[in-house]
Amino acid sequence: MPDPAADLLAAAARAREFAVAPFSNFQVGAALLTADGQIVTGCNVENATYGLTVCAERIALFKALSDGHRRFTHVAVVAATDEPTPPCGACRQLLWEFGGDLEVILGNLQRETGRHKLSALFPHPFDMRFLTQPEGK
Ligand code: THU
Repeated sequence: MPDPAADLLAAAARAREFAVAPFSNFQVGAALLTADGQIVTGCNVENATYGLTVCAERIALFKALSDGHRRFTHVAVVAATDEPTPPCGACRQLLWEFGGDLEVILGNLQRETGRHKLSALFPHPFDMRFLTQPEGK
């Protein structure tokens, strides 16, 4: 498979333009690649209670799931910062549960700034496997 990073970073940068971030003023875009080659994007959405904020990655993931996508290979995250913006803990959990060991591509508006397997960012995850094991004594 050719490296999809450039397309995903461009899609995430475009999605970032729609960020609703009046409180933090920190705009983020994300782009998920489905196993059949489709790109689903998201931006962060903040609100006046602050705590109900949803990150760009989760918006992209829930959009994709609600459109019927179930298998993913990559996710790109773009913010306008020199340092890469890695997914927060909550997003790592959900990306792991629904995406598995994704390739996580980080970037800013100019370039790719980092790349990790999700398992490296999120080792020893809790997921469905634990719920199907018999209870220990
Ligand atoms: N944010 C994301 O959308 N994704 C990340 O990976 C990190 C943080 C958002 C949440 C909030 O709207 C703003 O960035 C500041 O934390």
